Amino acid sequence: MNTFSSTEAQHTAGQASGASRWARPALNASVSAWFGIAVLGQLIFVFYIFALYGRATLAGQFESWNTVMPRAFVPGDTAQNVVMGAHLLFAALITVCGALQLTPQVRQFAPRFHRMTGRFYISAAVIMSSTGLVMVWTRGTVGDLPQHIAISLNGVLILLAAGMALWHAINRRIQLHRPWALRLFLAVSGVWFFRITLMLWIVANKGPAGFDPDSFTGPALTSIAFACYVLVPWAVLEIYLHAQKSNKAVLHFSMAAGLAVLSLLMLAGGKPVDMAAENLAPIAKRKCCSSALLLENIIISWRAYSV
Ligand code: HEM
Repeated sequence: MNTFSSTEAQHTAGQASGASRWARPALNASVSAWFGIAVLGQLIFVFYIFALYGRATLAGQFESWNTVMPRAFVPGDTAQNVVMGAHLLFAALITVCGALQLTPQVRQFAPRFHRMTGRFYISAAVIMSSTGLVMVWTRGTVGDLPQHIAISLNGVLILLAAGMALWHAINRRIQLHRPWALRLFLAVSGVWFFRITLMLWIVANKGPAGFDPDSFTGPALTSIAFACYVLVPWAVLEIYLHAQKSNKAVLHFSMAAGLAVLSLLMLAGGKPVDMAAENLAPIAKRKCCSSALLLENIIISWRAYSV
């Protein structure tokens, strides 16, 4: 009996250690997959920024900035145009830089480059959030007050994370620098999370649901804004950091599965997007308002993204 028990115990222990052996690699693989998909999607976002705003700027056709945002370029309003121009330029640069900063090989093989781009990334984050806050509260933007509060909180989180990441890096507290750098990356990615979540929402509902596409307001948009700009990315990161520190295989596997689901959601697109586009194109054509154009623009970006 004893022998049986001890053999059984050894077998169970063997199984547990077998499972544990796979748990951490599974977690690492799902994080890498998530990051790879996010970087790919964000680089397509950069392509969109250059294709729309970069080309127009290089050609001196500043009025074309207004293709998606009706008052992006206001002739004669130099101060606002400079703020918007800086926001757009740094939007592209910070997105590329974020991908470089979090790529482990760059940190490992080019630490000086990592430090240099890190300083630039943090400065760009400060420029992005301050120009964004100025625009929201002085010139106005699409959406209503709850959405403006949500994106402003995102701006504040970016400033907080940038400050903390820099402070710990300067003091060589790398263990504390790392989580703040990750928080910064996720806060900076809030704008992109908002776009893809909105796209998924439209696809899932075969058209705009829970919000008014004319005024670009409604409970669905408020919820997506708070979820993407403030709550979900940081919450998922905290769970991931906890799972990573823990030795529990079940936590590693659960986190790996959760990240795999998130990665698949980010990849979702293709055929259903065409359905949503068919539903939305008439709205965009009929009503030449910023929100419909914004939706159409999201679909165009998403189509490019899902090719
Ligand atoms: C840090 C990451 C950010 C990126 C990559 C980013 C990117 C962009 C881009 C590409 C646009 C042009 C809109 C379009 O073509 O669809 C834009 C506009 C804008 N952004 Fe940001 N942004 C970021 C952060 C912020 C923050 C933190 C705020 C506010 C606190 C903000 C406020 C605005 C506003 C008000 C506009 C003008 C929208 C309009 O007039 O309708 N952005 N941003």
